[in-house]
Amino acid sequence: MEENNSYLIIGGDSFIGRALRDHIIKEKKPVFWTTKRKIASKNRFLDLASDRIVWKPPPEVKAAFFCAAVTSILECEKKPEETRKINVDNTLKIIRILNERSIPIVYLSSSLVFNGEDCYPDESADTSPVTEYGYQKNLMEKELINLNPAHTIVRLSKVISENFPLFEIWIKKLKQKKEIEAFGDYYFSPVSVGYVARVLFDIARGQKGGVWHISGNRAVSYYEAALVIAEEIGVSSRLVVEKSAREVLDNALLSQLTVLKCSRLESCFGVSAPEVMETIKKAVKS
Ligand SMILES: NC(=O)c1ccc[n+]([C@@H]2O[C@H](COP(=O)([O-])OP(=O)(O)OC[C@H]3O[C@@H](n4cnc5c(N)ncnc54)[C@H](OP(=O)(O)O)[C@@H]3O)[C@@H](O)[C@H]2O)c1
Repeated sequence: MEENNSYLIIGGDSFIGRALRDHIIKEKKPVFWTTKRKIASKNRFLDLASDRIVWKPPPEVKAAFFCAAVTSILECEKKPEETRKINVDNTLKIIRILNERSIPIVYLSSSLVFNGEDCYPDESADTSPVTEYGYQKNLMEKELINLNPAHTIVRLSKVISENFPLFEIWIKKLKQKKEIEAFGDYYFSPVSVGYVARVLFDIARGQKGGVWHISGNRAVSYYEAALVIAEEIGVSSRLVVEKSAREVLDNALLSQLTVLKCSRLESCFGVSAPEVMETIKKAVKS
């Protein structure tokens, strides 16, 4: 029996946190998580917007995943100070508490620590964020590694599931034979939340520390994705109308996409980045 056997998720009600909880339970390991929902019991409640953080981790934690954050790029852009308090200052307070207890931390970061100019940066490439959200992630990465290089940073591209809201809206309209609009000049590199949860758990269990990348194998435009979805549900591709993102989206959202090179996953686990079109097809509910 391992001495420290349970896993902790800070922000266990997040999209990725919930998938991680399910995966850990499937692996028959104990899991404990925090939430900022008021209905939570006293030891589960953790609000990173609070002026006074009083929190202590449960005993015997094998590893802690840090999922809690303000994840909206636009909200970070519009409210830099407010979001920095949550995503940097108070995140760092919790991370210090975990570090003092010698709990290995897996911090969830983003491909937005890069500016999109380099193709396929690997885990050792220099970062250069251009959005406030990317800047906050970059700052936290540096703080975490300064605290102890044995901690883990996992940079993610776009994570999707069967309940990805944009796909749900598109599918509903397409099934009603209504037109949908999708950006031909705006890209993503999706990976499924199930895959992310599995890989995060394997990385934590391996306790190798350092920087890891999880990404799809290439970039795909939202227009291409919409065409595949129309084909999957058996409706005419003429219902998908190509639009330009430049006319509609905020500049912060238009920063170029970075597809991450997942060198460490390949070398340590023999895992190649998943094919993006397969990921999109699997996200279309039957
Ligand atoms: N999803 C992606 O495509 C993606 C891509 C790259 C990186 N990431 C990173 O992965 C992590 C998880 O992302 P996600 O998409 O799963 O997140 P999410 O669904 O947007 O959930 C965000 C979580 O942060 C918590 N949170 C927000 N403000 C908080 C506060 N003041 N105090 C405490 N908790 C707070 C929320 O708590 P409640 O549930 O209690 O409200 C929620 O659990 C984040 O760090 C994100 O930046 C995600």
